[in-house]
Amino acid sequence: MDEATFYHWLVMAWMVLAVATFVALFFITAPYGRFTRSGWGPRLNARWGWILMETPVLITFLVLYGVSDRKSNPVNIVLLLFWVAHYFHRSLVYPFRLHSHRPSITVSVIAMGAVFNVGNGYLNGRYLFALGPELQISWMLDPRFILGVLLFWAGYALNQHSDRVLIGLRAPGENGYKIPNGGGYRYISCPNYFGEMMEWAGWALACWNLGALAFFVWTVANLAPRAIKTHRWYQDHFPDYPQDRKALVPFIV
Ligand SMILES: NC(=O)c1ccc[n+]([C@@H]2O[C@H](COP(=O)([O-])OP(=O)(O)OC[C@H]3O[C@@H](n4cnc5c(N)ncnc54)[C@H](OP(=O)(O)O)[C@@H]3O)[C@@H](O)[C@H]2O)c1
Repeated sequence: MDEATFYHWLVMAWMVLAVATFVALFFITAPYGRFTRSGWGPRLNARWGWILMETPVLITFLVLYGVSDRKSNPVNIVLLLFWVAHYFHRSLVYPFRLHSHRPSITVSVIAMGAVFNVGNGYLNGRYLFALGPELQISWMLDPRFILGVLLFWAGYALNQHSDRVLIGLRAPGENGYKIPNGGGYRYISCPNYFGEMMEWAGWALACWNLGALAFFVWTVANLAPRAIKTHRWYQDHFPDYPQDRKALVPFIV
């Protein structure tokens, strides 16, 4: 089997797996953070969890760019910068900001996350840098690229701001939960997840290929069920939780 055929079947399987994961996550909650529980094997603290889970995708993407003969393509350079901006922050900045000292992420979640990330890095990087049609500079004036870029950076800002609000709720050494307020929390319980979904929707538009779309579908599959459970968790634990706040999509869900 040549690589293009392998890629085609992998991306199809990736989509099917994302849909299956979406359904499964309404019944099984990934055991990390507030939903950590016994029976899922050994745990690490969140800082190590995020570093081990997310650095593989940063490295995969950089290696695929490094071995590509499309390194001087301006669209590829721009898209590479978007990817690195997100994953450098997620794997090497965000973990050091966290105030989470208990072992709250299971090794099984870290392993599954790392494997997913390598596959996802391959599906996105390999298509852009080798297998797909080479994107021309004129693509940067296409409405899909422009809208995608705007959506990506708006999502990036919302995601980071919302994560910072959560991190700011705890003093160093604290482990408890409080009601977050301000910014996106005025409307929804999980603006960090909504921002993340906006980012990868923007990415899918700007890249306009199936691998990028599959990543967006995976992001929704991972985060939508968790947002609904997190929203219910807040309502169950805080009697004074704002009643008009939705879970994930302002005014809707
Ligand atoms: N692309 C994807 O598929 C994907 C998948 C998962 C996550 N992510 C992204 O990764 C980031 C982190 O995700 P996450 O699921 O860990 O988010 P999260 O559950 O909202 O937690 C983020 C951090 O804030 C703390 N925290 C959460 N709620 C709090 C509260 N009410 N009071 C005090 N502290 C609170 C958590 O501590 P504890 O750890 O102690 O709960 C954790 O350190 C998000 O930006 C998310 O979008 C992306």
